[in-house]
Amino acid sequence: MGKFGLILLVIVVYGVLGGVSVTVTYDSKALVIDGRRRILQSGSVHYPRATPEMWPDIIEKAKEGGLDVIETYVFWNYHEPVKGQYYFEGRFDLVRFVKTVQDAGLFVHLRIGPYACAEWNYGGFPLWLHFIPGIQFRTINGPFQAEMELFVAKIVDLMKEENLFASQGGPIILAQVENEYGNVEWAYGVGGELYVKWAAETALSLNTSVPWVMCSQSDAPDPIINTCNGFYCDTFIPNSPLKPKIWTEDYTGWFLSFGYPVPYRPVEDLAFAVARFFEKGGTFHNYYMYFGGTNFGRTAGGPLVATSYDYDAPINEYGFIRQPKWGHLRDLHMAIKHCEEYLVSGDHVHQSLGINLEADVYYKTGGDCAAFLANYGSSVDANVTFKGKLYFLPAWSVSVLPDCKKVIFNTAKVVAQKSIGDAKSAPGTGGVNELSLSTSPWSWYIEKVGVWSNESFTETSLLEQISTTKDTSDFLWYSTSIEADEKKDAFLLIQSLGHAALVFLNQKVLALGYGYHDDASFNISEKISLEQGNNTLDIISMLIGVQNYGPWFDVMGAGIYSVILADLKNTKKDYLSNKWTYQVGTEGESLGLDRTDLANSSLWTQGAYLPINQSLIWYKSTFMDPKGKGPISLNLASMGKGQAWVNGQSIGRYWSTYLSPSTGCTDHCDYRGTYDAQKCQKKCGQPAQVLYHVPRTWVHAGENLLVLHEEIGGDPSKISVLTQTGQAVCGHVSEDDSIPVDLWKPNSDSTSQNPQIRLTCDQGWKITSVRFASFGNPKGDCGAFTYGSCHTDALSVVQQVLLFVCIIQQHRQTSIWLS
Ligand code: GAL
Repeated sequence: MGKFGLILLVIVVYGVLGGVSVTVTYDSKALVIDGRRRILQSGSVHYPRATPEMWPDIIEKAKEGGLDVIETYVFWNYHEPVKGQYYFEGRFDLVRFVKTVQDAGLFVHLRIGPYACAEWNYGGFPLWLHFIPGIQFRTINGPFQAEMELFVAKIVDLMKEENLFASQGGPIILAQVENEYGNVEWAYGVGGELYVKWAAETALSLNTSVPWVMCSQSDAPDPIINTCNGFYCDTFIPNSPLKPKIWTEDYTGWFLSFGYPVPYRPVEDLAFAVARFFEKGGTFHNYYMYFGGTNFGRTAGGPLVATSYDYDAPINEYGFIRQPKWGHLRDLHMAIKHCEEYLVSGDHVHQSLGINLEADVYYKTGGDCAAFLANYGSSVDANVTFKGKLYFLPAWSVSVLPDCKKVIFNTAKVVAQKSIGDAKSAPGTGGVNELSLSTSPWSWYIEKVGVWSNESFTETSLLEQISTTKDTSDFLWYSTSIEADEKKDAFLLIQSLGHAALVFLNQKVLALGYGYHDDASFNISEKISLEQGNNTLDIISMLIGVQNYGPWFDVMGAGIYSVILADLKNTKKDYLSNKWTYQVGTEGESLGLDRTDLANSSLWTQGAYLPINQSLIWYKSTFMDPKGKGPISLNLASMGKGQAWVNGQSIGRYWSTYLSPSTGCTDHCDYRGTYDAQKCQKKCGQPAQVLYHVPRTWVHAGENLLVLHEEIGGDPSKISVLTQTGQAVCGHVSEDDSIPVDLWKPNSDSTSQNPQIRLTCDQGWKITSVRFASFGNPKGDCGAFTYGSCHTDALSVVQQVLLFVCIIQQHRQTSIWLS
C-alpha cells in the first residue's frame, strides 16, 4: 500500500479484587501486590467534580484506556462543613465512589491529605479551622495537629468499616498524607521538619496495611515513599534505594483561571514524558488529571480559578473521551504492559546511541529483553542502530520494543482515532445543537446597593474579608459616607487585597476592579464628582475562590485595605478609620433566590422591558430539557460575572467579560522540547470559559428552572442551551504504521500483521453512517477530507462492515477494527 492509506469518517448517533484480601508492600523496583511486582498506570478523578451518575462511565473509560488505579484527594471542607458534623452524600459520597472503582476492578490511591491543594476552595481545609484559637496550619501546632489527626483517622476508619483497604479485600492499595509539603517546608522552619515526621508517624499509626506516600517530600521518613510531581519525572530518584520510583502528578494539561488563555498539552509530549519515566525505572505513574470535571458551586479554589476543571485531560469535562489523547495513551499503556515482566525483574543496561540518543534495556533471566529507544533532542530526527538493526527516531520521542526487536509504539506517532470539534468550545465533540433558552419570559430582582438588612455592623477600620464573611458568601459590603462642604471633583483611590470589587458612589456604579490568579490584589483610581453634603460610598468586595496554595496560604487575606480621597489641591484624607458599615452577602442570597421553591414568588418582577447591563440583578427563566442523552451546557457568553443555578443546583461561577491577554497563544504548539504550563495555550483575547456544564441528571423532562445572579451586567436574553446530538470520529491507517495493532486487539489472530485502526464511539452512541472512506492517498484532516490523486472507493465496503458491527454491538460501546 506504500504511502497510501485508508481514511474514514464515521458519524455516530445515540443510541479486582472482589473481596479477596491482598497484601501490598514495596521494594526498590515496584509496589508488590499479592507477592507480584506491578507496573501501574493511574489517573486522577476527583469525585465531587462529577456526579455519582457519571462515575461508572468515567471509570469504565479509564479502565479501557489502560489504567489500573484511580487516584483521588479527600475534600475535608465538604465532608466536615461544621466541626464534628460529617457529610458523605451525593457528589461527596466517598464510599460509593471507592466502591464504584472497585466494581470496575481497578485499584484506588486515596490521597487523604487532608491538605489537597487541587485548585479547590481553601485547598480542602474547612474555614472553621482558621478560627480555632492559637491554630497554625501545617506545622507543629497542637490545635491543628489535633484536628488533622481526627479527620485522617475518621477517613481511615470509614474505609475500614466498609472493608475498602486491600488487606480487607478492598481496592485501596496506596494512601497519601499531606500534599507537596516539601515545596513550602522552608517557610515553616524547624516546625516544618518536625511536622513532616509527626504527619508520617500519625499516618503509620493508623494501620491501614497499605503503603503511604508523601509527594514532593524529599525528607519523607521511612517507610513512607517520597514521590515525584511535575511535567517530567524521569530523573527523579527516591530518597532510599529500597523505595520504588513513583510519579503522583503528571499534568495532562493545566488548570484554567478567569482572565487566562486555555492551556493544553500535546499528547506526543505527554506520552514522551510517560515513556521516559518507565524507560528510567519508573513503576507507578498517575495522570493529574485523567478526568478533570467541573468546579460546581463555590468549590473552585483561588484566587480566580475557573469553573471548568477540564485540564485537557484524556476524558473531557463532560465525561467524553478526548481523542487522540485518550487513544494514544491507551496504546502507550499497552506497550508498557508488554514490557512489565522485564521492567520489574530485569537487569537494567543503559547504552548511548549518539548525541541525545540512548537505549535503556531491561533483561530477564535467559537474555530476553525489552528496550526503550529515546531521542530526547528537541529538533533533530535520527536513525539509530540498536542490536544491529536500524531504527528511525523522531526528535523528542521514545520507541518501545517489548522484545528488543520490534517497535510497537513510538510516542510521536499518533495513530489513534481523532474526533471532530473541541470539547472546550462545545460539549463533547461534534454534532452540537444550540437551542435558544427561554421557554418562559424572564423575571428579575434588582438587589439593594449597600447595607440591606439590620444584620449589618459598624467598625472604625477596614476589615479583612475572609475573617469577616467566614466564606459564607463571596460578598462583603463596605459602606461609608463622604462629607463634602461643597460640590466638587476629587480623586478616589481604593486598594484591595483581592479579588474583585464594584464601587458605587451615591448608589451609582463608579468602577469595577479586579486582580488575577497570580496576584489578586488591585487598585481602583477614579476621578469622582461629590455632591455638597453627604455622599454614600458602597463597595461590594468579591471573593472568587479562597486561596489554595503557597506557604501560609491559609492566612492570606482579601478585601479592601485602603481608601483615600484626594481633592484637586492634593489634600488627602484617609478613610481607613472612618465609620464603616459592613454587610455580609447580598440581598438576593439572603432571600434565597436560587431556590426552586421561590420560583413562583412575588419577589420576582416581570415586565415588557428586561433590564440588561444592570449590576447586582437576579434573573430567572426556564428551558426545556434538550432531547437525547447528550451532555448539556449553557452558553453564558452574553453575561458579565456571577453564578448560575439549574433547578437549584449551582453550576458554578461565570465571568465572561474577563478576557485573556491577546497574545501568547498557538493552535499548533510544537510538542518537541520541554513543556511548561504557558507553552501551549488557546483562546487568547477571549473569555477563559463561556460554556458551563449542566449534568444531565440535574435536568428533568419538561421545563427546567434557570437562575442567575449577575453582579456586573449582562444580557440573559442571549443565553443558549447546547447539547450534543452526534459524534464524528475519524482514523487514518497506512502500511507505514509500524504498530502491529493486533497486539492490542482482543482475541486477535496473532499472525495478522496488517496495520489496523480502531474506531470507537462513546457509550450510548452508535454508528449510523459513514461519510468518507478512501483507500489511496486522501488529503485533509478529520472533518475535511478530500480524495487524493490515487483513490479506490472503499466507502461501500466500510459502510457494510460498520453497519453490521453496529447491529450486533448495539448494547455496548461500539467499536470496530479496520485494516
Ligand atoms: C500541584 C498540587 C495539585 C494541583 C496541581 C496544579 O502542585 O499538588 O493539587 O494543585 O499542582 O493543578
